[in-house]
Amino acid sequence: MTDTSQDTASLLEVDKLSVNYGLKGASLCALDSVSFNLQAGEAVALVGESGSGKTTTALAIAGLLSPNASVSNGEVRYRGKRLPIDDDTAMRPHRWSETSVVFQGAMNALNPVHRIIKQIAEPCMLKLGLSRGEATKRAIELLERVGIPADRGTAYPHELSGGMRQRVMIAMALACRPSIIIGDEPTTALDVITQAQILKLLGELRSQLNLALILITHDLSVVAEACDRVMIMYAGRIVEDGTVAEIFAKPKHPYTRLLIDSIPNPASGKRIIRPIPGDPPNLMNRPSGCAFHSRCPSAMAVCANEVPSLDRFGRERVACHLHRSLTQDDKVAANV
Ligand SMILES: Nc1ncnc2c1ncn2[C@@H]1O[C@H](COP(=O)(O)OP(=O)(O)O)[C@@H](O)[C@H]1O
Ligand code: SF4
Ligand SMILES: [Mg+2]
Repeated sequence: MTDTSQDTASLLEVDKLSVNYGLKGASLCALDSVSFNLQAGEAVALVGESGSGKTTTALAIAGLLSPNASVSNGEVRYRGKRLPIDDDTAMRPHRWSETSVVFQGAMNALNPVHRIIKQIAEPCMLKLGLSRGEATKRAIELLERVGIPADRGTAYPHELSGGMRQRVMIAMALACRPSIIIGDEPTTALDVITQAQILKLLGELRSQLNLALILITHDLSVVAEACDRVMIMYAGRIVEDGTVAEIFAKPKHPYTRLLIDSIPNPASGKRIIRPIPGDPPNLMNRPSGCAFHSRCPSAMAVCANEVPSLDRFGRERVACHLHRSLTQDDKVAANV
């Protein structure tokens, strides 16, 4: 059965969302009918190679798509209400108060000429209507919550380490009390130890504040500690969705299997990332059938012609012709 059910209890519902970018008179399909639900307090990872549509998904949910992007189909609902994701002005009351995004590379996102305390206090004044004194007090609380001593609040961004700056970004993301945080590769620019500390912090904040977390990464190895569920993206579509335990123990989609195999595992002597052979498809000219077919070791004739639907198997969803649930015709034929 193709999963089109909508869970009204979900905090966030992304429903058949398609996004195109206009590029020099041509159109690039970055998201193609992406659907998923997120429950309050749930942590979901969005994983895939560069160009698979992860950032576009985050930007669309937060209503931050670039001017050359258009939502060609579908919608995003927050607590059951449709969000005006393609209307910058109408999105303002929702942005940062419902969903906040922490991007990679905090140095670009922070204002170099303002002290960090001011940068955290500002949204508290603007969005929560706090006085300057109240906002400064909240900014200090937020700094301490993310593990930065209050007296570091007078520092400028360049005076902090990369990890500390990313903590400031997380404090800013929390400023307006959102219920969803999207981390778009929030640890990619950091060393391994700092990366682990930031992921631990996100996990702690999630349980303390009952935050839902969408963690975007190209690196499956960071997912296991921080998330309950993993969604694998390829060429603008979700190709597999399941619990971390299910996906790591028994990946169904050949692309997921190759992604897992590519992770270094020093215990087994595999010390380097083994890239998946072949190149990601050109999204201006999407391949026919399954977009992975030219790289897939299990490809069959049908794969080049028919797009596999994202079918539900228990708690999992998979889009691959190797794993098709029974169609109505199959059921009639099999008398089930
Ligand atoms: N502003 C933009 N204009 C044109 N194409 C874009 C833009 N942003 C992203 N893209 C294209 O959309 C596709 C998806 O990109 P993105 O969502 O950034 O993927 P990911 O985050 O998984 O690397 C890529 O082919 C990328 O080149
Ligand atoms: S549908 Fe075919 S080409 Fe695509 S992942 Fe499955 S087996 Fe491979
Ligand atoms: Mg990205």
